[in-house]
Amino acid sequence: MVSLTRKVALITGASTGIGRATAFAFRAAGARVALAARSSEALASLAEELGGPDWAIAIPTDVSDSDQCERFVAEAVAHFGRADVLVNNAGMIVSGLFEHLEPGDAERQMQVNFFGALYCTRAALPHLKASRGVIINVSSVAGLLGTPTTSVYSASKAAMNAWSRALRVELKPHGVDVVTVCPYFTSGVQLAQKGILRKGSLHNRPGQRRQAPGTQTADQVAQAILRAAQRPSRIVVLSWAGKLIWRIDRLAPWLVDWVMIKGLAKLSQK
Ligand SMILES: NC(=O)c1ccc[n+]([C@@H]2O[C@H](COP(=O)([O-])OP(=O)(O)OC[C@H]3O[C@@H](n4cnc5c(N)ncnc54)[C@H](OP(=O)(O)O)[C@@H]3O)[C@@H](O)[C@H]2O)c1
Repeated sequence: MVSLTRKVALITGASTGIGRATAFAFRAAGARVALAARSSEALASLAEELGGPDWAIAIPTDVSDSDQCERFVAEAVAHFGRADVLVNNAGMIVSGLFEHLEPGDAERQMQVNFFGALYCTRAALPHLKASRGVIINVSSVAGLLGTPTTSVYSASKAAMNAWSRALRVELKPHGVDVVTVCPYFTSGVQLAQKGILRKGSLHNRPGQRRQAPGTQTADQVAQAILRAAQRPSRIVVLSWAGKLIWRIDRLAPWLVDWVMIKGLAKLSQK
């Protein structure tokens, strides 16, 4: 198991949800953390909570802008002197039936979830090669299946999965590990509140509060991300429900399609 004591983790999307919980998990494991997201106040107070400049720094960043990603990595390395782990976690969701999405929605989805991860990785790669570090790409079970009403979100995560796997092979000879982590439904996050919600979205319904079986907390997902950094593997699919659906989909995709068609029809009537 790789020790994270005094190692440096760069975490995107650290202002809320899974990213914030991941920052706490890495700090508890003895790592120093560089935090990126757009909400500068939330990031600054989190950095203080995590022990101040010796242990945590806030670097306001919009990951959809490659220059800002380069600045994030450069400032983190200038401050801590190295980079050992990059957690590409920043993400948003476009939710609604595909026919109701507006021009620019899909582009924004890809720009944040997919290109944001690419930009940060490209900037961090020389430092991760030097430290023989780890890249953790926070994807989604949606990217393994393709889920209705979140089609372009699924596509952004499917793109991440394919890129992440190829990158793993390319970087193995350089001693850099790449792990794809696919969370299932996660509670205590702001993905739906901050998302772009269009007609047909299932994210903005009254009564949507009921949790799907197998939903995990952001802390549980953060622990899985931490374990992935300590014991890197190819892919980590989370929660018993996520693993079950993933396995069934590989054996009988028609069955998963059938369940999703029935489920969508039922939810659309409500
Ligand atoms: N929640 C789920 O059920 C679930 C399931 C599977 C996978 N995931 C994935 O988990 C990751 C974390 O999401 P979450 O569930 O923890 O939701 P969240 O609470 O909304 O967190 C998303 C984080 O990404 C940041 N972010 C959004 N757009 C950004 C941008 N352009 N530049 C920089 N940072 C940006 C947000 O901060 P700012 O708004 O301050 O920028 C926030 O810190 C995402 O990649 C998501 O797709 C979530």
